[in-house]
Amino acid sequence: MNLEIFDTYEILSYNVAEQIISAIIKKPEALICLAAGDTPKRSYEMLVQELKARKIDYGKVHFIGLDEWIGISPENPGSCQFFLRQTLLSPLEINAENIHLFNAMAEDIHKECEKMDNIIEQLGGIDLIVVGIGMNGHIGFNEPGVSWNKNSHIANLDEVTQKVGQKYFSTQTQLTQGITIGLKQLLNAKTALLLANGLKKASIIKKALEEEMTENIPASIFQKHANGLVFLDRESSSGLS
Ligand code: GLP
Repeated sequence: MNLEIFDTYEILSYNVAEQIISAIIKKPEALICLAAGDTPKRSYEMLVQELKARKIDYGKVHFIGLDEWIGISPENPGSCQFFLRQTLLSPLEINAENIHLFNAMAEDIHKECEKMDNIIEQLGGIDLIVVGIGMNGHIGFNEPGVSWNKNSHIANLDEVTQKVGQKYFSTQTQLTQGITIGLKQLLNAKTALLLANGLKKASIIKKALEEEMTENIPASIFQKHANGLVFLDRESSSGLS
């Protein structure tokens, strides 16, 4: 694991965008898995701007959405899909066949996991996965206690996740389950990038990176990722010794 600390959220975001751009330049048909959420928002805005300004050919890149709230429609602005489309996929005019998002409204939700696992396998594995960290140490919807040996799966959401998740929705919304890429797929990714910013993440970042690795803090898996990168802003790193 490689740790980098940047002075501000803006500089952190710029460096995240550059990582994604490097992955695309290195492999124009890269498979990139992206988290939604507040943390990567500015990175994606910068990514869109830079890809266009530098006329980088991103037409062959395949994008996967990391996770989704089960039962929340893609038209709901609080859904991960809405966020990814609005922030990145639509401004970049990515072809539908290069976009792979969980359908959280599917009747057979387990089939969605199978479909995603097959796509990842057929496309030769994830080249770059960009994730945030939840206040309880989750990654995507890999909730505390999850096995590190899981591919895509359905998760019952931890209380903290249900509560914190309200911030994405304009009205009180029932959030009970999520569908997510698994930690096995994160471990197998050629590069995994964990981001955090802000003081509120300082304590969970310390636990994830400095305490013993444990399935109770899913993000602590980064301690053993051979090609794991952790990018923090100064504030979220402030608890580290
Ligand atoms: C959310 C999502 C994750 C996200 C994490 C952190 O609940 N399921 O994919 O990375 O929690 O979110 P944020 O960046 O908004 O703090």
